[in-house]
Amino acid sequence: MTDKKKTGGLAGVTAGKTALCTVGKEGAGLTYCGYDIYDLADNASFEEVAHLLLRGHLPTQAELDDYVATIKSLRELPDALKTVLEMIPADAHPMDVLRTAVSFLGNIEPEGDFTNQQHVATRLLAVMPSILLYWHRFHTGGTRIATETDDDTVAGHFLHLLHGQAPSPFHEKCLSTTLILYAEHEFNASTFAGRVITGTLSDMHSAVSGAIGALRGPLHGGANEAAMELIQKFSSAEEATKGVHGMLERKELIMGFGHRVYTTSDPRNSVNKAMSKALAEEKGDMTLYEVSEAVEKVMWDEKKLFANADFFAASVYHFMGIPTYLFTPIFVCSRITGWAAHIMEQRADNKLIRPAAEYVGPALQEWLAIEDR
Ligand code: COA
Repeated sequence: MTDKKKTGGLAGVTAGKTALCTVGKEGAGLTYCGYDIYDLADNASFEEVAHLLLRGHLPTQAELDDYVATIKSLRELPDALKTVLEMIPADAHPMDVLRTAVSFLGNIEPEGDFTNQQHVATRLLAVMPSILLYWHRFHTGGTRIATETDDDTVAGHFLHLLHGQAPSPFHEKCLSTTLILYAEHEFNASTFAGRVITGTLSDMHSAVSGAIGALRGPLHGGANEAAMELIQKFSSAEEATKGVHGMLERKELIMGFGHRVYTTSDPRNSVNKAMSKALAEEKGDMTLYEVSEAVEKVMWDEKKLFANADFFAASVYHFMGIPTYLFTPIFVCSRITGWAAHIMEQRADNKLIRPAAEYVGPALQEWLAIEDR
C-alpha cells in the first residue's frame, strides 16, 4: 500500500513546470512572475497583476490604459446568455451559475483556434462579474441590470453592479487587494484541473468550466463561505473560543485553516487580516473581527494550524455588504487570470497529462457467465 501521508493527493509531487508563481518557496514566499505578493498588494492594481500574469510583464501606463479600456469594452452579456441566466433557478449555487455561463459562452463565442486565446482570457475576466451579478440582481430584485459601468477596475465594476452604485474608494481598494491575493497560486486543485483539460488540447471555456467545478468545493475555494458561516455562529470572542475547542474535540474541520503547501503561515493572511480590522473599524463594530481572532488563536494554540487566505477574506467581504454565497464566485472573478495564464503556459509546451495509478483491485478473475454468478 502506498504511504498516504507521502503521496496521497499528489502531496509533494512536482507535476510540471511553471514560470508564473512560487508558493512557500524558501526565501521567495508567494510570488507572481517574480514579483513578491506584498509588493503587488501594496502598489499594483488588480488589472496590472492580470496583465502581468496573462501578458508576462507589468504594463507601461499606455499598456495599462489600453488593457483597462479593453476590459471595460467586454463587459456586456449577449442576449442568449441573459436568457440562460434568467432560467437558472434563484436558489442555484452561484458557482454553478458561473460554470454553466462559461460553458454556454463556449457555445456562442467558441474559442476557435488558439490564436484567439488572449482575447478569450480578457473576455472571461471582463464578463465574470457581469454574469454573476446579472443573475443575482435578476433573481433577488427582479431587475434586468445593465452590466456595463464606467468603473475602471474589476472590483469597482463588481461592487457597482452588486449595490447599484459606485463603491467608496476604500471598498474598491479592499476588494481589488483580495483579487490580487487570489489571482494565482501555482498548481492548486482548480488550476491543475484546468491544466489537465488543456493538456488534451481542449478549449479555454472547457478548462475554465472544469476549474470552476474544482474551486467550488469547501476544501478549496468554498472555504471562504464556510469560514463565514462559522464565525457568524458566535457573538463574542469567548463564545468562539469555547465553540472551536468543542469542534476540535469532535474532530470537526475548521474551514479557512491549514494548507497543503504552507507549513507555518499563509502570506496572504496578514494582508486580509489587516483589511478586516480596518473595515470593522469603519463599521464601528469589532465583534466579528474579535471572533475571528479568537478562532485563529485557538487553532494555533491547539493544532498549530494557521489561517489561510480564505479565513479573513470572509469578514472582509461581509463588511462590504457582500452576501456570503457570492464569496467563492469572487475568487473566480480573480483566479480566472491565473487559470488562463496556466492554460496558455500549458499550451506553449503541451504534453498530455496522464499519470499512472497503483492498482489495488482484485487479482485476475475467471469470467463467469451471468447464470453462474
Ligand atoms: N481543521 C481541523 N483540522 C485540520 C484542518 C482544519 N482546517 N486542516 C488540517 N487539519 C488536520 C487534519 O485533520 C489532519 O489531522 P490528522 O493528521 O490527525 O489526520 C492534519 O491536520 C493534516 O491535514 P490534511 O487534511 O491531511 O492536510 P491536507 O494537506 O490534505 O489538506 C487542506 C489541506 C487545506 C485541505 C486542509 O487543511 C483543510 O481541509 N482545511 C480546511 C479547508 C480550507 O480552509 N481550505 C482552503 C485551503 S486554501
